[in-house]
Amino acid sequence: MTEKITIAIDGFSSTGKSTIAKLIAKKYNYVYVDTGAMYRAVSLYAKNNDFVNQNSIDKEGLIASLENITITFKFNEALGFAEVFLNDKNVEKEIRTLEVSQLVSKVAAISEVRKKLVAEQQEMGKNGGVVMDGRDIGTVVFPDADLKLFMTASADKRATRRYKELIDRGDKVLYEDILFNVQERDRIDSTREDSPLMKADDAIEFDNSDMGINEQFERICTLIDNKLA
Ligand code: DC
Repeated sequence: MTEKITIAIDGFSSTGKSTIAKLIAKKYNYVYVDTGAMYRAVSLYAKNNDFVNQNSIDKEGLIASLENITITFKFNEALGFAEVFLNDKNVEKEIRTLEVSQLVSKVAAISEVRKKLVAEQQEMGKNGGVVMDGRDIGTVVFPDADLKLFMTASADKRATRRYKELIDRGDKVLYEDILFNVQERDRIDSTREDSPLMKADDAIEFDNSDMGINEQFERICTLIDNKLA
């Protein structure tokens, strides 16, 4: 196979999916799509447009407004990856706050939201040469993806990584809150009715609790090279 393949990376939150996906995109000159950023952008829209009241969501209102939400990605040369824009505003930083993380699993459980975003993701990846990370890429968005990876790690390891990221960028957060958020999102993402997070039968699982990024990347490149050979 010489053409560009489709690579689906699913798994639990903070398992390093996006780090690996960005490295793959760079090495193989593929387009990287962070689908979690799209669900986060819709959540930010809901928050900023008064569809959220003390963590309960006005679903009907948000669904009626979906047509007003445009999510795009623009490649940032300096950063080396595409940043997410909500209605033409760069929201790459705003969507990573703990506040949005606390909302996003609930927004992602709304079928109408998923329908809109899945259609957009399928459009972005229809010509191959794409590495997409999320929760349902290998099961729903691209069930025929050429290579499917499923990333896991212990909740404690994942919360520690996410806590460090937020502290490093200056957010004031407590480790206990991050751990609770990671566990809560696992629960909601895995038990929702529409497209729950699960490993596709043909996905290759990586538990990276104790595996460094270089080792994972090397192993994944071998898998990709085998597909391309
Ligand atoms: O990858 P992330 O942590 O940024 O994703 C944020 C949330 O979005 C996650 O808790 C579940 C949801 N999500 C989803 O339901 N389907 C996807 N394809 C990607 C993310």
